[in-house]
Amino acid sequence: MAGHDTEIVAIIEQMMTVAKPLRKFSGRLVLVGAGKMGSAMLEGWRARGLKPGQITVIEPQPGKTLKALARRGLKLNPKGKTAEASAVVIAVKPQTAPEAVPPLAGYVGPTTLVLSIMAGRPIGFLEKLLPRGAAIVRAMPNTPAAIGRGISVASANTGVSARQRKQASALLAAIGKVEWVSDEALMDAVTALSGSGPAYVFLLAEAMASAGIAAGLPPALATRLARETVAGSAELMRRSELDAATLRENVTSPGGTTAAALDILMGPDGFEHLLTQAIATATRRSRDLAG
Ligand SMILES: NC(=O)c1ccc[n+]([C@@H]2O[C@H](COP(=O)([O-])OP(=O)(O)OC[C@H]3O[C@@H](n4cnc5c(N)ncnc54)[C@H](OP(=O)(O)O)[C@@H]3O)[C@@H](O)[C@H]2O)c1
Repeated sequence: MAGHDTEIVAIIEQMMTVAKPLRKFSGRLVLVGAGKMGSAMLEGWRARGLKPGQITVIEPQPGKTLKALARRGLKLNPKGKTAEASAVVIAVKPQTAPEAVPPLAGYVGPTTLVLSIMAGRPIGFLEKLLPRGAAIVRAMPNTPAAIGRGISVASANTGVSARQRKQASALLAAIGKVEWVSDEALMDAVTALSGSGPAYVFLLAEAMASAGIAAGLPPALATRLARETVAGSAELMRRSELDAATLRENVTSPGGTTAAALDILMGPDGFEHLLTQAIATATRRSRDLAG
């Protein structure tokens, strides 16, 4: 297939994914913590057709959107007896977990999927606080989830069925792409790469702007050039079928200006060396924080 046709097919597939409803979701979905991530997920689920009447949200400080949804059937901070849910999504800060998780036990039955996006809280931590045998998926999303363009990596315990795995994928697809790892220990490296990764990209934009200023450009212009270059290149890479190395080679003429810069960036103490060190350090930090 010609490159152009493949690109069109990819765009159509992407639109279908975006529009794909949460068809298979029946029963009640409980969201615990509607902060930045929880709200992004809620918005994504709603865009995929989940009805307010199917959703319960536990959130100490509900905003306007949640209150408006509550008037349309969403259950907000319900009091009293809890009924078993189809899925419970935990999106509170990791440090809030010891107080936020135990009260959820009433929602968790033999067929309930528990999906946690808390950074650095292992599946074993949740297993201790929830009913025995609970089906638990731990996922690590990243900040572009706020615009539905994140990537989440998920890992499941042995209680998770194939159906629940699909359900978890569908719930996470609301904020972007989804990958799975069978070894939960890899979540530390995932955290260091895609979890912390947006910060590395923002730093790249900052460093490019500073370097442009040092090369004599007016600060505002350097900042705009750096920002649009990072954003535009990322979008080009996303839409292209070519891998990053080929895209780089395609804009590097032998003996030209890009090649001169890459000689420095790709040198022994260059970019790759620094990132390898940075990601290894972040991986160790993630492991230490999880205890
Ligand atoms: N943001 C990211 O880019 C990112 C990336 C990867 C993973 N994560 C994970 O996603 C989770 C949520 O992050 P976030 O950035 O969305 O944090 P956030 O904006 O602080 O959201 C957490 C929400 O939980 C609420 N909350 C506090 N105690 C609660 C309780 N007992 N029951 C129910 N809700 C409670 C908080 O309310 P109050 O504000 O009133 O305390 C807040 O609205 C974290 O565990 C984080 O590790 C986030």
